[in-house]
Amino acid sequence: MDKLVIRGGNALHGRLHVGGSKNTALALMAAAVLADGTTTLHNVPVLQDVFTFANVLRVTGCRVTYKPDANADTPDSMVIDAADLHHLEAPYDLVNKMRASFYMLGALLGRAGEARVSLPGGCAWGPRPVDLHLRGMEALGAEISMDQGYVVAKAPAGGLRGARIHFEPSSVGATINVMLAAATAKGTTVLENAAAEPDVVVFGQLLQAMGAHVDGLGTPTVTMEGVDALRPVTFTNCPDRIELGTYMIAAALATPPGERLVITGAEPAHLGDAFLDAFAATAVPFSLDGDTVEVEGAERIAPVSVATAPYPGFPTDLQAQWTVLMTQADGPSRVTDTIYTDRFKHIPELNRMGAECAVHEHTVEVRGRNGRPLQGAHVMSTDLRASVSLVLAGLVAAGETHVLRVYHLDRGYENLEGKLRRAGIDIWREEYQE
Ligand code: EPU
Repeated sequence: MDKLVIRGGNALHGRLHVGGSKNTALALMAAAVLADGTTTLHNVPVLQDVFTFANVLRVTGCRVTYKPDANADTPDSMVIDAADLHHLEAPYDLVNKMRASFYMLGALLGRAGEARVSLPGGCAWGPRPVDLHLRGMEALGAEISMDQGYVVAKAPAGGLRGARIHFEPSSVGATINVMLAAATAKGTTVLENAAAEPDVVVFGQLLQAMGAHVDGLGTPTVTMEGVDALRPVTFTNCPDRIELGTYMIAAALATPPGERLVITGAEPAHLGDAFLDAFAATAVPFSLDGDTVEVEGAERIAPVSVATAPYPGFPTDLQAQWTVLMTQADGPSRVTDTIYTDRFKHIPELNRMGAECAVHEHTVEVRGRNGRPLQGAHVMSTDLRASVSLVLAGLVAAGETHVLRVYHLDRGYENLEGKLRRAGIDIWREEYQE
């Protein structure tokens, strides 16, 4: 297995480039299934989750070609030819590697009127239900049954029909899945309390480019008028907002006062106001200019409490990283996750590095150390965002931090160690035995 080793205390400066959004790319790839032909997606990141989803598509008969170039800061393209779609299944061994494979339920129903998709299991930080996805498909008229861990879905004679569907809570995945199925349903579909995350908006823009009728993207009410078929197009994925937020936090932690980190290829508006406001409140200077964000190192970091919420709220995918930032603040703060209320697997590991964090229900109480370094240690990754939070902790730890099971991180950060190394950080990858 691989681990990342970070020798702490080095200055982060120069440039970091943000790659294409992982979570948006997965939704775009699912949309490509809806078109009888060849879809080209630009700016698809070179990531394990993208490889996994490419394999999910291949099982159905799609031809997927992809030229990763992990050393270049240039967009990568994926070509998906869905003309020969014939095997309407997403198997367990792929869905259990990545939950977004469940998008095949809406994609296959929408394209072919039938799907057999493995139910995802729980995940590292607790149960992640799919009830809203299933209820949405049923509302469109699909017959749903369970067979040996698989969801079997079939459109009625005459095809899916538009419906009014209310999501509670708001769900990125259920909104995308139902939109995939509704694009070619007969009549009007109204999604209430639809997710407004940029991932959903950009995915909806691809559907529009393919000929779907979609209104209200980015608002809580999305309306779709079904069309007979979607056409294949060429489309460019958006930058990864969580990668951007992670780099801004890295700069606040490790860029020395008076020096700057320039983050390029970004879409700052996708971070949402809550994150940008919280970052401003730390008193770490930063500026936004088009697709560039500059962060200047600061003498002190003010403590800022945050609570996650759907967009434009504070993203749950940045709370673990924020907690690390708060370990260096000059006072106490609280980090609450209202979306995934048990997403705190990183806390015991951070505490092994000398952080003083305590979890009470859905909140981490963080004692700020006023810039006093953590201590390097061997720490275990448990999921993607937890693992990157441990790398961030390693930037401000004395000695070496060994982040084990780095395959979690490889799911969602493109060449992280290469990018950080070029920006001054002493970080490298090693193989080890468990
Ligand atoms: N929920 C239900 N029922 C459902 C679906 C969701 O109760 O059928 C609940 C969840 O338990 C959660 C809330 O709804 O409390 C929101 O979950 P959502 O469905 O929005 O999450 P998701 O679509 O499964 C995506 C991202 C996650 C990100 C969340 C929240 C992808 C592939 N995944 O998951 O990203 O944390 O939205 O923004 O887009 C990551 O990148 O590290 C990651 C986990």
